[in-house]
Amino acid sequence: VHGPEGAARGRGRQAPLGVFDSGLGGLTVVRALRAACPREDIVYLGDSARVPYGTRSAETVLRYARASARALAARGVKALVVACNTVSAVALDALRAELDLPVSGVILPGARAATEVAGGAAIGVLATAGTIASGAYRRAVASLATRSEILGQAAPLLVALAEEGWLEGEVPTLVVRRYLEAFFEIRAGARVPRVGCVVLGCTHFPLFHALVEQELATLAARPIPVVDSARQTASEVRAFLEERGLANDAPERGSLRVLVTDRPQSFEAVAQRFLGEPLGEVEQVDL
Ligand code: DGL
Repeated sequence: VHGPEGAARGRGRQAPLGVFDSGLGGLTVVRALRAACPREDIVYLGDSARVPYGTRSAETVLRYARASARALAARGVKALVVACNTVSAVALDALRAELDLPVSGVILPGARAATEVAGGAAIGVLATAGTIASGAYRRAVASLATRSEILGQAAPLLVALAEEGWLEGEVPTLVVRRYLEAFFEIRAGARVPRVGCVVLGCTHFPLFHALVEQELATLAARPIPVVDSARQTASEVRAFLEERGLANDAPERGSLRVLVTDRPQSFEAVAQRFLGEPLGEVEQVDL
């Protein structure tokens, strides 16, 4: 988490946290935040009208991210959590420079969690094409002063499958397996893993956590750890809020308000799977 604290403090510890994503995937981060910081009120904005971001240029992603960040800043949030790997990969520095608010992304926490479990071996990253092309995981891992190599694999079909709620069965299993094959090589006729862990470098992918674990274990004939950045992000946000005197100390559980820019048909069911609890009221907004 980075950024000016003056404005945030002015807004007070009772102000909500702003969380945004290109769509519904960021609700996996909200779920982790609701567990790690249960007293925080959260305003979530999903830009469901313009998802996916992962296939677009960095300039377009920055333009979209600015609109979401400003809409949340205008609602008086005390800090922003960018719950999207693609935005964190290409727009985080610009948002930090432009906004008078602390801004947190998901890539550094994910990289930190991965370096802890990779044990010096290479780290596999499953993410959108935009995140892979940005080299953001490589930079994040290098900034943590570790030597782990990064092997990136773009997995755009998993975004579509997650948004559709198509999480089990033959199709997602085959798609996951095909993507994971990039993390293996054939040596002396045997399939050998090239990575010590795989990071789910996209906020949609925690929905496939068990499937990725299962397919990795099948391909490697042994378990390979899978890292999800949501939990690490939430614990870093919590530590930041506590350190800066911004943690909400209200006795009751925090509220959740969900804003979206479009409301597709399967929205309710899919959103609940991401969030793991009933959604409550959802408001449609225009950016
Ligand atoms: N939320 C995006 C991410 O974490 C994935 C969906 C998209 O491509 O917009 O990278």
